This record gives sequence, C-alpha cells and structure tokens, in this order.
Amino acid sequence: MATNRTFTMIKPDAVANGHIGAIINKITEAGFKIIAMKYTHLSNEKAGEFYEVHKSRPFYNDLVSYMSKGNIVPMILEKDNAVEDFRKLIGATDPSKAEQGTIRNLYAKSIDANAIHGSDSDDNAAIEGSFFFSMLERF
Ligand code: GTP
Ligand code: MG
Repeated sequence: MATNRTFTMIKPDAVANGHIGAIINKITEAGFKIIAMKYTHLSNEKAGEFYEVHKSRPFYNDLVSYMSKGNIVPMILEKDNAVEDFRKLIGATDPSKAEQGTIRNLYAKSIDANAIHGSDSDDNAAIEGSFFFSMLERF
C-alpha cells in the first residue's frame, strides 16, 4: 500500500495566488486519488522540522521562513507508481526548467516559490504524510 502513495503540499505562493483549485484538478485528472487533505499553516519551528534534511544547505533559512509565511494544502495521494509519477507531474524544482504543462511550469514563479512539494521516495512519503496526518489506517 505505502508504495502506491505519495505526499504533497500546495505551497504558500500557489495558495496566495488562487491556484488551489487548478492544481487539485491537475492532480485528479492525472489519476491520483486524494486520501487525506488539510488547509493549514506551518509555524517557523514546524517548517524547520519538516525540512530538517536540508538543514546544512545555504537556502535552508529562506526555505523555512518562506514555508511558514502563508497557508498550505498538504495531501496524501494514491496511484500506481505514485512517487515517481507525481514528481513528473510537478516538474523540475526550478520552474524555469520545468517541462511544459507541469504544475511548476504553469503555476510557480521561482525556485523558492515553486508552488508545490512532492515526496522524493516511498520512505519520505510515509514520513512526510505522518507529519500532517494520523489515523490513516481507516482509509
Ligand atoms: P520539494 O518537493 O519542495 O522537496 O522540492 P524538490 O524535491 O524539487 O527540491 P529539494 O527537496 O531539493 O529542495 C526543497 C526546496 O528547497 C525546493 O522546493 C526549493 O524551494 C528549495 N531549494 C532547493 N534547491 C534550492 C536552491 O538551489 N536555491 C534556493 N533558493 N532554493 C532551493
Ligand atoms: Mg524534495
């Protein structure tokens, strides 16, 4: 089951720019089923915890402060080959390099404000999903 799931978050720029609906449409049209979803925000401390793996990177502080600036929409998604297929759907980290038609190509403005997160492995999908959601056994 876990291998068919990924975790995503619509980031503060995409929420503030009114792209929640369009992005959810792209996700469901691509065949992903929404298993869990919230409209919420991260404190600076919680954002730091979520991005702990990037702690030593030069962009860590900017990333954490950016991710705690506004509301976000975290979701757990289900589909065959979910992690890899979702990374394809969102496109490259830097939107100027993201392929035509990908979510970051369509809705992101910069490498910091890049509209959406997608887990990079099955293990991280499970860890990141449980950061926001519990009691998933009932789904
Ligand atoms: P996520 O799905 O958000 O995890 O993005 P990613 O997996 O495509 O990229 P990665 O995990 O390497 O980086 C996490 C986030 O840090 C990215 O989404 C960017 O917002 C930011 N980031 C990554 N690399 C850079 C960089 O070189 N410069 C800056 N300013 N931000 C970066
Ligand atoms: Mg990443």
